Amino acid sequence: MMRVDRKHPWRESEAAQRLGVRYPIIQGPFGGLSSVALAASVSNSGGLGSFGAAQLSPTQIKETVAQLRESTDKPFSINLWVSTYDEAAPSTTGARIEASVLATQHYFAELNIPTPEAPKFSAPDFNAQVDALLQARPPVASFIFGIPPKSVLEACRTSGIVTIGSATTGDEAKAVADAGMDLVVASGFEAGGHRGSFLSPAEASLTGTFALIPQVADTVGIPVIAAGGIADARGIVAAFALGADAVQVGTAFLVCEGSGIGPLHRRALLSDAVRSTGLSRYFSGRLARGIRNRFMNDMDKSALDPLPYPLQRALMRPYTEAATRQERTDFLPLWAGQAAALIRHTTVEALMESLIRETDELYRNLSL
Ligand SMILES: Cc1cc2nc3c(=O)[nH]c(=O)nc-3n(C[C@H](O)[C@H](O)[C@H](O)COP(=O)(O)O)c2cc1C
Repeated sequence: MMRVDRKHPWRESEAAQRLGVRYPIIQGPFGGLSSVALAASVSNSGGLGSFGAAQLSPTQIKETVAQLRESTDKPFSINLWVSTYDEAAPSTTGARIEASVLATQHYFAELNIPTPEAPKFSAPDFNAQVDALLQARPPVASFIFGIPPKSVLEACRTSGIVTIGSATTGDEAKAVADAGMDLVVASGFEAGGHRGSFLSPAEASLTGTFALIPQVADTVGIPVIAAGGIADARGIVAAFALGADAVQVGTAFLVCEGSGIGPLHRRALLSDAVRSTGLSRYFSGRLARGIRNRFMNDMDKSALDPLPYPLQRALMRPYTEAATRQERTDFLPLWAGQAAALIRHTTVEALMESLIRETDELYRNLSL
């Protein structure tokens, strides 16, 4: 039966009903920076907590779902990357990799660490990850960087797992809906972290949230989850006005206590540095948004072609580890979206309370 809340119309969202949550507010998954504590506390606050499992082994995926079940009796989501490596990665030659190592060696020298060995290709096995996910049966499964095979979506449906796909363009949203997924995230170019584009290169898929949401809403018949640049109630109301049925908030949750980020990243997110973010392929090989720093600026000016994902990330790993140890934030990936400058809360409870109360207030004031 339709749950209708006449005092708070935005809460009547079809997305909230499909996901089984009280509020149509989703905490975006954070890949390697995900945490059970954060996801569970969002779910316990009435939103949908998500855990990014892209880097986890099948066993770790099952363990994570078990931990989430112990921490919350509310719905939560597990996120996987459908494409775990760029097509060009396995065949990238040793000579090309060596050239990248040489071209970045001055950074290693500056950090006083030896130039690393050329990285070897290795990537998680999506099929094994998805098998583990199906066995663990989380209430919600979300996917980025592509659409899972039909058999996987059918197995989700049979097991009662609600599926969310991710799109950075209207065409990708249509592909997600045509595949039969239950909801679609429309991710505007303001969003923090990687751009999950899969039909065209990420550089050709940079539509902003304001233009993307109505296009997607006009194209698909499934609930649209707006992501990118939403960090307060104004963003929620705007997203709903544009045709969204739920929001996915990333950066504003990333800074909250209990998330997987380290102290340097947290401090940077709470500093004036967040006023300038940029997109770069140089940290991982795939385009991602973070706080602009010296490394991003230098690499943008260089003629160096980043290695395909995840080779570039593997190349940079010893460097980012050393930069972390030496507290060199000018060298680190500091993932953040453009709305990081709007951050006001550092606990899930305070953030959720303000998002819900202020969205209710705005709706009342606007007589929506
Ligand atoms: C550090 C970081 C890691 C992310 N990892 C993933 C991921 O693994 N899978 C995914 O679907 N989205 C990922 N995202 C995107 C977020 O879930 C969310 O959609 C996005 O941050 C929303 O935009 P906002 O940062 O402007 O709020 C990541 C974002 C950040 C900041």
